[in-house]
Amino acid sequence: MGHDILITHIKGLAQVREPSISFLAGSAMAELPVLADAYLHISNGRIAGYGKMETLPSILADEVIDATGRFVLPSFVDSHTHLVFAASREEEFVMKIKGATYVEIAAQGGGILNSAKKLQQSSEDELTEKTIQRANEIIRLGTGAVEIKSGYGLTVKDELKMLRVARRIGKETPLTVKTTFLGAHAVPSGIKKPDYIKQVIEEMIPAVAAERLADYIDVFCEEGFFSADETEQIVEEGKKHGMKPRIHANQLHRSGGVQVGVKTNAISVDHLENIGDEEIQLLKGKKTMPTALPGAAFFLNLPFPPARKMLDVGLPIAIASDYNPGSSPTGNMQVMVSLACIKMKLTPEEAFNAATINTAYALELSATHGSITREKTANVFITVPVPSLAYLPYHFGNQLIETVILNGQIVN
Ligand code: NIG
Ligand code: FE
Repeated sequence: MGHDILITHIKGLAQVREPSISFLAGSAMAELPVLADAYLHISNGRIAGYGKMETLPSILADEVIDATGRFVLPSFVDSHTHLVFAASREEEFVMKIKGATYVEIAAQGGGILNSAKKLQQSSEDELTEKTIQRANEIIRLGTGAVEIKSGYGLTVKDELKMLRVARRIGKETPLTVKTTFLGAHAVPSGIKKPDYIKQVIEEMIPAVAAERLADYIDVFCEEGFFSADETEQIVEEGKKHGMKPRIHANQLHRSGGVQVGVKTNAISVDHLENIGDEEIQLLKGKKTMPTALPGAAFFLNLPFPPARKMLDVGLPIAIASDYNPGSSPTGNMQVMVSLACIKMKLTPEEAFNAATINTAYALELSATHGSITREKTANVFITVPVPSLAYLPYHFGNQLIETVILNGQIVN
C-alpha cells in the first residue's frame, strides 16, 4: 500500500509546469503559472495529479490537508551551499563591521583557512551531526534539494571526510543532495600554490573519483585564490574523472571565471557580483546557468549581480543561498527570494522561478524537481495563510511555511 496525501482548497498552486520545460530565461521568467482554488494529489512519493477543486476526482487518500488561504509551491532547490562546516565565524563578522575587508581577514589566517583548521580537527561523526542540524533547519525553511561543496578540508583526507559527510546528508535526511569537490577553495598555509594545485590534481581528484564522492568540481576563481588558467587546468582534470564544472566566478573581481566557465562547459557560474557586459554577452545562448547568491552579496556588502540587465538580453538567472560560515551564514531560501526582489529588482514570479526550476536545472534535477509536474518527486511546501504570492517575499525575514512535504511524506 502506498501513502496518499490530498491537499485541497489551495488558494494558489504555484509553478505548475509541463515536463518539457527545463529552465526559464529572459522574459519567460516573468511568468509563474498559478492554479487558483486547486488540489494536489501525492501518491507514493510522487506528484500524482492536480487541478481545479471543481474537477477533483474521488481519491482515497490516507491524509487530507485543507489548504484554505494558503499557497503550495515546489520546494526550493538550493544549488550552491557549503553546508558542511565545523564552526561559525561571528568574530570575523564583528571585524568586518569595524572595517576589515574579506581579503584582509583572509590574509590574517581568517576566512576559509580558519574554517579549514576547525574542520580538520573535527571527526566525520561530529561534522555529520552538525550538518544534519543545518539540513533540518533548511528543510523547515522550504528547501528540498541542495548542493553541498567540500573546500574546508584542503588536505586529501579532510576533503574526503567532508564529501563523505555531504553524501551522508543525502542518505540520512529527506534532502536530495548533489556534491561538489572544491579542493581549490584556498591555498593552505605552509604550501606553495603550484604544489597545492599538483596535490589537488594528482591526489585529491583521483581519490574523490575512486569513492564517487563528487558529482561536480568547483574552483574559487578569484584574485588571490585561483586564476582563470589554474581554474581551467583543475576543472579539466575533474572532467576527466566524471565531475562536471561549476565555478565560483566574479565575486570580488572580474576574475575571468565566467570565461573559463563557458569555455569548460560549466553547468553554472555562481556569485557574479562583479560581472561585466563582456561576460553577459558571453553567456548568451550557452548552457551555463548564471547563478546569483544574494545572501553573500548582502552579507559582504557587495554589489548585486545586474539581474535586470541579464534578463533583458535573454539570459536565465538562478538564485542559491551559498550557506557558509564566512559570507552567508543562512540557508534561508525565503530570504534569498526576498533579497532577489529587493536588491536585484526581480519580480516575485522571477525570483521563485530562479529559486526552483532554474536551480533544479543547475543541479541536473530538472526531471524530478523544481516544479509541480506529474511524476516529479513530491517535494512541496504549504505556506501559512497569505493574501497573495507577492506577500511571501514582501514579508521578508519571517517563516512563512507551515507544512513541508518531502518525498511524499510530511516532515514536520
Ligand atoms: O562562496 N567565495 C568563496 N567561498 C565562499 C566563502 C567561503 C568562506 O568565507 O568561508 C563563498 O562566498
Ligand atoms: Fe560559495
